[in-house]
Amino acid sequence: MNIAEAPAQPQITRLDDYRAPDYLIDTVSLEFELDASETRVTSKLKMRRNPEGQGGPCILNGEYLTLVSIALDGKTLTGNEYQRTTDTLLLPQVPASFELEIVTLIHPDQNTALEGLYHSGAILCTQCEAEGFRRITYYPDRPDVMAVFTVTLIADAKKWPMLLANGNRQASGEMEDGRHWVRWHDPHPKPSYLFALVAGDLYCQQDQFTTMSGRQVLLEIYVDPENHNKCDHALNSLKQAMRWDEDVYGREYDLDVFMIVAVNDFNMGAMENKGLNIFNAACVLASPETATDADFYTIQSIVGHEYFHNWSGNRVTCRDWFQLSLKEGFTVLRDQQFSADMNSAAVQRIDDVDQLRSMQFAEDAGPMAHPVRPDSYIEISNFYTVTIYEKGAEVVGMLKTLTGPEGFRKGTDLYFSRHDGQAVTTDDFVKAIEDANQLDLTQFKRWYTQAGTPVLIVEAHYDADKQVLELTLRQSCPATPGQPEKQPFVIPVAMGLLSSSGASLPLQLDTETSAVDAETRVLTLTEQSQTFRFIHLTEEPVVSVLRGFSAPVKVKFERDNETLAFLMAHDRDSFNRWDAGQQLLIQIMLRMVEQYQSDKTLDLPEILLDRLQHVLDDQSIDPALVARMLSLPSENYLAAQMTIADVDAIHAVRKYVKQQIAQRLKAGFNTRYQALNQAQVYEFNASQMAQRSLKNVCLGYLMATGDPMQTQRCLKQMKQADNMTDLLAGLRLMVDQPGPEREHALRAFYEQWQHDRQVVDKWLTVQAVSDLPDALFRVKALLKHPAFSMKNPNNVRALIGQFCRNNPVHFHAKDGSGYRFLAEQILLLDKLNPQVAARQLGAFNSWRRYDAERQALMKKSLSDIAGAQDLSADVYEIVNKYLAD
Ligand code: BES
Ligand code: ZN
Repeated sequence: MNIAEAPAQPQITRLDDYRAPDYLIDTVSLEFELDASETRVTSKLKMRRNPEGQGGPCILNGEYLTLVSIALDGKTLTGNEYQRTTDTLLLPQVPASFELEIVTLIHPDQNTALEGLYHSGAILCTQCEAEGFRRITYYPDRPDVMAVFTVTLIADAKKWPMLLANGNRQASGEMEDGRHWVRWHDPHPKPSYLFALVAGDLYCQQDQFTTMSGRQVLLEIYVDPENHNKCDHALNSLKQAMRWDEDVYGREYDLDVFMIVAVNDFNMGAMENKGLNIFNAACVLASPETATDADFYTIQSIVGHEYFHNWSGNRVTCRDWFQLSLKEGFTVLRDQQFSADMNSAAVQRIDDVDQLRSMQFAEDAGPMAHPVRPDSYIEISNFYTVTIYEKGAEVVGMLKTLTGPEGFRKGTDLYFSRHDGQAVTTDDFVKAIEDANQLDLTQFKRWYTQAGTPVLIVEAHYDADKQVLELTLRQSCPATPGQPEKQPFVIPVAMGLLSSSGASLPLQLDTETSAVDAETRVLTLTEQSQTFRFIHLTEEPVVSVLRGFSAPVKVKFERDNETLAFLMAHDRDSFNRWDAGQQLLIQIMLRMVEQYQSDKTLDLPEILLDRLQHVLDDQSIDPALVARMLSLPSENYLAAQMTIADVDAIHAVRKYVKQQIAQRLKAGFNTRYQALNQAQVYEFNASQMAQRSLKNVCLGYLMATGDPMQTQRCLKQMKQADNMTDLLAGLRLMVDQPGPEREHALRAFYEQWQHDRQVVDKWLTVQAVSDLPDALFRVKALLKHPAFSMKNPNNVRALIGQFCRNNPVHFHAKDGSGYRFLAEQILLLDKLNPQVAARQLGAFNSWRRYDAERQALMKKSLSDIAGAQDLSADVYEIVNKYLAD
C-alpha cells in the first residue's frame, strides 16, 4: 500500500500555463464508509478524452491519501500500470473513454487543517474549496472539470443519524450491522470544489419557499441540538435572499432542497457547496441574547452571499483559480446590494467603503499586492483576499455604474444564459456586459490586471468672469511588486456642484447644449489627465467628487477645514457627507500627531466640535449615520495615512480628541443617550439597530469624560440589557478602565456565558483589544484558558488575530514583544492549520511603514518564521513575499 504524504516543495502556478484538461468526467459515483479514524472512499469515474485537450496522460490529484486499489474498466491495475508522486496519480495508457474505480482511505480525526473530510466536535464534514477534494480521493481537482455526482453515505446510525450531501435525497436504508445509508444525487454538473458531505446528530429546523415559477423548495438548517433556538434569523435571511435574487437578478433556485449546516470548526465564514452550504457556526447562529446587531447583520449578508453563489459561482463557475474574483467579487457585490436593500443603503455603503479603505488599500500598498485577477500564486488559499473580494466587488460595481442598472441587468442576464453550466473567465463576464450594452471595455479590463490603488488628483478652478468651473482630474498608480508602470484606468467619477447655501447647481459641460437633469453625474476619466469645463455657474461652486465612492481610488483634493465642514453638513450624497467628516477628522488628527511629536500643544479646531455638535443634535439624520459620523477613524487607518506610522502618537491623539469631543458635547450625548435608551423588545431591523448604535456611541463618549457617574450608567446598561449588543458595548467600555469593576465585569460575563462558544469568543476579543498595559500578558494567559483551543479557528481569530490586528499600541510595543508573540504562535499554528496560520501573518503586512527600530524587530520575527523547518506552502509564500519587500 502506498501512502501519499504532503505535497512537493512550494511551486508557482501561472495563469499563462493554463491548459484545458486532457480528460473530462461525465459522472462520479462516490461511496463513503464513514468512520472518524478511517473512512473508506470508493470512487467510480466515467471519463473520456477532452477533444480540446492536448492528448496527454490522465493525471489525477491526491494528497494525504492511502491508496487501496485502482481498476480501469473493471480490471485492477498493478503497481507498474500507474505512477504516483507525492500529490498525483498518473495513468499513462487509457482508452478514449473508460471507467475508473479508485478506493482510498482517509483519516478525518487526524485532520487539523480542516480541508477535505474532518471532524468538528461530533460532526463529520468536508471543506473542498479550493483544493480540498484531492484529500478525499484521487480526482482531477480543478474547477473546469464538471461532473454529475451521486453520493452514497454509510455510517453508524446512532452516532450519525443525519447523512447529508449535495442535491436531492434519492434513497436510504438500514444495514444489519447498525449502520444506515443515504444516497444523494445532484443533477447539476459541478466541479469537485462544490462537493460536500455532513454526518452528524443534529437538530433540523425546516421551512418552505415557493419559487417564482411556483416550485416548492424545502429549506433546512442543521445545528447542534443546543442551538435549536438560534436558527430563525438565518432561515428568514435565506428566504429574503431567495426572493431578492428572483426580483433583482431574475435567478431562481434549482433543487428541491436547500440545506445549511453549522459547524464550530471552520477555516472561513461559510461555503457555498451545491444545495448544502456549510457555515461557521458564528456566521449562522443568532439569538438576541447571544448575538450583536453586527452579528445579525453579518449573518444576513453571508447567508445571502452563499445563496447567491448558486448562480454566480455554481451554475456558472470559474475556469481556474485565477478567475476567483469572477465568482467572489461579483457575489460580494450581490450581497452588498442585498444588504443595502434589506437595511439602510447609505449605512451599507459607508461600512463597505470603510472596510475597503482600511483593509484592501493596505493590501494594495504592501508586499502582497496583486491584481483582481492575479497571474501567479504558490498557494491559492492565500488569494482569498480583500483584493479578490472587496476590490473585485468594486470593479463589478463600476461596470454597473457605467452601464446603468438596466444595462447591467441585461449584461448579467446574458452572462448567466450564455455560460450556464460552464467554467469561465473574468474576460467572459466582461464580454457579456459589453455585448449586452454595445460597449468597448478593453481599457476597463486594466482593473483586473493592474494591482495598486490609483490616486485621483482633483483640482478645481473657478473663473467668475466666464462663470466657468474648470475641474481637472488626474490619475496615477503606484508601482506594486512585479508591476513598475501602470496604464491609465477607466475611472467613473460621480460628482455634483453645490451653491453656498447647499443647493445643487446645474451640471452643464461646455460641450453640451443643456444641463443634465440630475444633481449627480458621472464623469469618466480615461486619460492620465482630463479637464472638464462646467458652464453657467453664477457663483463659485463647492465641488463634491466621487459620490457614493464611485471608484476604488484615493482622492487627493486640497480642501480647507471650512469646505470639508460645509460638505459634511450639505452634500446631497450621504456617503460624501460622512466622508467629508472623516477627511476633516483625518486632516485635523494628522496635524495633531505632528504637534504631539514635536511636543507642541494639541490644537483641536473649533469648527470640528461645532460640526459634530450639529450632527449630534440633528434629529432629522438617520441615527445610524449620526453614529458613524461621530466615530473617529481607526488607529490603523490613521497610521496608513502617514509616511512613518507613529502608533503611540496616533493612540494618544485619538484618545485626546475623543475626550475633548466628550467634554464639549457631554450634554448632547447625555440627552440623546437617554432618549434612545428605551426598553423595547429586541428586533433585527434598521431602525432599532440605528438606535442602539448611536446610543452606544454616546455611551462611549460619556465614558470618555472620566466621570464616575457614567461608569455607573454603563454598569446599569449591562445589568439591564436583554440583548448582546447593549451588553457587549458596555463590557468593551468597562474593559478599557482599570480597577475592580473591570475584573468583576469580565468575570461575571464569563460566568454567565461560558457555555456559549460565540459569546466566549467575544469575551476573548474584548480582552485582546483592550487598551490597558497588560494586554499581551492577558492574551498569553488566555491561551491556556479552558475556553481556548489552538485547533479552533474562531478562538485563534478572536484572541490572537484580534490582538495583532486591532490592538496596534500593544502589538507594536517598542520591545518587539508583540511581534515575537505572533511569530511563535504562527509557527505553532502552522503545524496544525496552515490556512489559519498564514492569515495571521497579515498583521505584518504593513511592516515597512514603521520606524527603523520596529522594522528591524518585525524583520527579525519574519526571518524567524521563514527560517523554520517544514513550513507549509501557505506560510512560506506570504512570509517570503513580505521579506522580499
Ligand atoms: N467560497 C467562499 C468560502 C471559501 C473561501 C472556502 C476560501 C474555501 C476557501 C465563500 O463563498 C465566501 O466567500 N465566504 C466568505 C464570506 C462572504 C460573506 C464574503 C468567508 O468565508 O469569509
Ligand atoms: Zn463567496
